[in-house]
Order: sequence, then C-alpha cells, then structure tokens
Amino acid sequence: MLRFDIITIFPEFFRTVFDFGIVRRARAAGLVEIEAHDLRGWTKDKHKVVDDRPFGGGDGMVLKPEPIFEAVGHLAGASEAQALREAGKRIVLLSPQGRVLTQELAAGLAEAAHVVVICGRYEGVDERVAGALATDEVSIGDYVLSGGEPAAVVLVDAVVRLVPGALGSETSAVNESFSEGLLDFPHYTRPPEYRGMGVPEVLTGGNHGEIARWRRRAAIEKTRRNRPDLFERASLDEE
Ligand code: ADE
Repeated sequence: MLRFDIITIFPEFFRTVFDFGIVRRARAAGLVEIEAHDLRGWTKDKHKVVDDRPFGGGDGMVLKPEPIFEAVGHLAGASEAQALREAGKRIVLLSPQGRVLTQELAAGLAEAAHVVVICGRYEGVDERVAGALATDEVSIGDYVLSGGEPAAVVLVDAVVRLVPGALGSETSAVNESFSEGLLDFPHYTRPPEYRGMGVPEVLTGGNHGEIARWRRRAAIEKTRRNRPDLFERASLDEE
C-alpha cells in the first residue's frame, strides 16, 4: 500500500480528479490511498495566513515555512528530510526549479511507502522547505504553472500506474514509451482504410517477427523526429 498525502491551499481541486481509470481502480483495490489536505489547517493565527512578503523585496508572496513544516511533521511523523528518507518516506516539493520528472523518478517513488506532495503557490515557497524538509524538489517540465496542483495530479498518476498490480498485467509498463529510452511505436486499429489513409501492411499480415521489427524501427524513427534529445542518448545497435 502506497499512501499519498497532498498539501495544498486548494484541496477541492483534487475532489474528483483521482476517481477515474487506473487511479480509481488502484484506490478501490487498496493498492494506493490518496488524500488532499488544506495547508491552512496547520496555521496558528486567526486569519490562517500561509504566505508573506519576500525578504529582499520584489513582487508577489512567498509560502511561509511554518505551516508546511507543521503539516509534514503531522502527516509523515518527522520534519527533517534525512530522517524521512531513511524511513522510506519521500517529501516531494513541486516547483519549476525542481529536477524534471522522468519515468525513472516516478518508478523510484512507486517503491516508497509514503509520498507527501507539497504544492507550491504564489511566487514561490520559502527555500528552507526545499533545503531541509523535502527529499525531492520536482518539476513536471520547463514551463510555469500557476501552482503545483496540476503537477501533483501528473506526478500521482505517473507513480500510481507503476505500483505493482495497478495495471491489468504486470508487464504492460515494460513495453511502453521511455522504458527503453525510446518513444512508443505507432498503433493502428480498424478500419483498415480511413479517409484515404491506410495501415502499414506488415501489421495486417500476422508475421509476428516482422511486426516486432517494424515496430522497433518505427519507434526509433519517431524518437529521432520528435525527440532528438532522447535519440542521442539511446544505445542502439547498427541495425
Ligand atoms: N509549479 C509551477 N510550475 C511547475 C512545474 N513546471 N512543475 C512543478 N510544479 C510547478
């Protein structure tokens, strides 16, 4: 059982987003548990203030450290990155300054017992959260979201489907995009001709060896065209 606790100022954002498809099934099967918590619940002042002006000046507000440290201490039983990591817990701060999420990072998180996800907001989060509380600072890509909430949905989805048993068959995650540093091969279904567009003949022929070779070549070709960065790093043989 992998437990996710999401710390956010918009807990309602997550009310139904995990109620579909593979994530819903994994929850129903007791493989994962996902709960969103209101950061304001860990403030101690009358107005439940979670942000403040930046030292050094500048635009925008910064999320204060105290409610976030309190929240993680309460949810994970400690508020020091070192102790948390040793206990198999991962505290993920979502921010555009993080390490970019990859299939490999998602697979690592799927092996944890407990993942606490902190959604950043406003112009930023007090750096002491990244420095001493979070075990991982993660970005979902090189663009800026208005908050970490959509990123939390992406991260949880990518991790949940890698929890053993979450996919229909245990092998289905092995043959897909990125598992070998390549994109997935192209897929086709009926009809065999649509708006003048056909289907590669090899796929309708039933020769499994030829199909496998075609798929590999097509995956390599697509990777070269759409993701030259991945293509450069892929270790491919001469053929
Ligand atoms: N918050 C704002 N932008 C983000 C991004 N790209 N990844 C993760 N969290 C974010």
